[in-house]
Amino acid sequence: MEKLKFGMIGGGKGSFIADLHLKGALFDGLGELTAGCFSRNREKSLEFGRAMGIAEERIYGSFREMAEREAKREDPIDFVIIAAPNNVHYACAKVFLENGINVVCDKPLTHYLYEAEELKRLAEEKDLLFGVTYTYSAYPAVSFMKKMIADGKVGEIRLVKAEFLTDNFAIPNEQLGKSMLWRLDPEVAGRSTCCGDIGVHAQNLISSVTGLEMEELSADLNVIGENRVLDTNFTATVRYKSGAKGHIWCSNVAMGKCNDLNIAIYGDKGSLSWSEETADIVVFNELSGCSVHYRMGTSFSSIGGSQMFRLPAGVSEGYYEAFANIYRNYMTALRNKKAGKPYEVNYPDVNCGIESLRFVEACLASSEQNAGWVTV
Ligand SMILES: NC(=O)c1ccc[n+]([C@@H]2O[C@H](COP(=O)([O-])OP(=O)(O)OC[C@H]3O[C@@H](n4cnc5c(N)ncnc54)[C@H](O)[C@@H]3O)[C@@H](O)[C@H]2O)c1
Repeated sequence: MEKLKFGMIGGGKGSFIADLHLKGALFDGLGELTAGCFSRNREKSLEFGRAMGIAEERIYGSFREMAEREAKREDPIDFVIIAAPNNVHYACAKVFLENGINVVCDKPLTHYLYEAEELKRLAEEKDLLFGVTYTYSAYPAVSFMKKMIADGKVGEIRLVKAEFLTDNFAIPNEQLGKSMLWRLDPEVAGRSTCCGDIGVHAQNLISSVTGLEMEELSADLNVIGENRVLDTNFTATVRYKSGAKGHIWCSNVAMGKCNDLNIAIYGDKGSLSWSEETADIVVFNELSGCSVHYRMGTSFSSIGGSQMFRLPAGVSEGYYEAFANIYRNYMTALRNKKAGKPYEVNYPDVNCGIESLRFVEACLASSEQNAGWVTV
């Protein structure tokens, strides 16, 4: 089958995440970069597009122009990747959907929940596939833990805990780079820095591993650091519909922490824990005191996640491969859909984006009421 044609929004020189999207989408040879608007600045967009070998007429100076002109072509792109800052997501996803083009967008999906719900309605109305890149949900260890839980190894889940700790904003604003500064600006980032940017990863990780649905929560958002208006630290206590209890702590001012995303799940038979910093090891504990360290990529860990491994055991897989896993599943679904075959939505989709915005909005509402309990 022909390669899928995709375009990109963002990703110009000096940008961070677009390169991971690009490499992830190219990883398995299922697609090719055919068009793009890589910067708001037409010259910069052209410079990057030319360097990527894209035909001049398919390098655009605005995402709107790109969506409209691509849709009129006989060979339009099959999907667009939105890897620009948060304030671009809603308007950009909307115009591509309106023009009949499938979308993969980074998190947080939109500034407001109602915008994310509108995008979902539009995607359904136009019969288009909508992916949201919750990177950590596509780590092999996450599939492995899901399977351990489905196999009853943990029993009924009683407690969950997730943390995402960084020190990105532990320094004064004057020392921050461009890519970090917009995260503190409500016009660009939205109504939250910590909860909206990394809190949603912790929330989605719990949801991806356990399938637990939030019922209500109590949250405390803290603005730490001079000349800031948005939270750079937050804690949330969550009551899940099943009766399980959860704790989420995320911080951008945890000095010395780089990208410490971790999760622990405690059931009535056993417990599981995993940390992104040691991504290829899942620890399983039982009441007997028995503790098993499962190394991803070995025959022991082949259950559940075997299709997620690309490298032999002992060679760590991580961020790049997780992007590649999301894109492989998304593009396989899109190729099957195009061929009129059944397809599986086994990638994080628009519903995951909506669930995160419910979480962020509930955290904001709770924090405004001095950490009062709020229904999610
Ligand atoms: N999934 C993840 O693990 C993950 C990790 C980091 C960032 N992100 C998300 O990715 C997005 C981008 O973050 P980043 O850190 O790469 O930002 P960045 O500032 O490093 O890069 C953004 C790029 O978008 C371009 N851009 C801005 N407005 C544009 C527009 N209107 N049209 C075209 N290009 C435009 C900028 O010129 C820049 O090249 C954010 O939404 C962020 O939350 C996700």
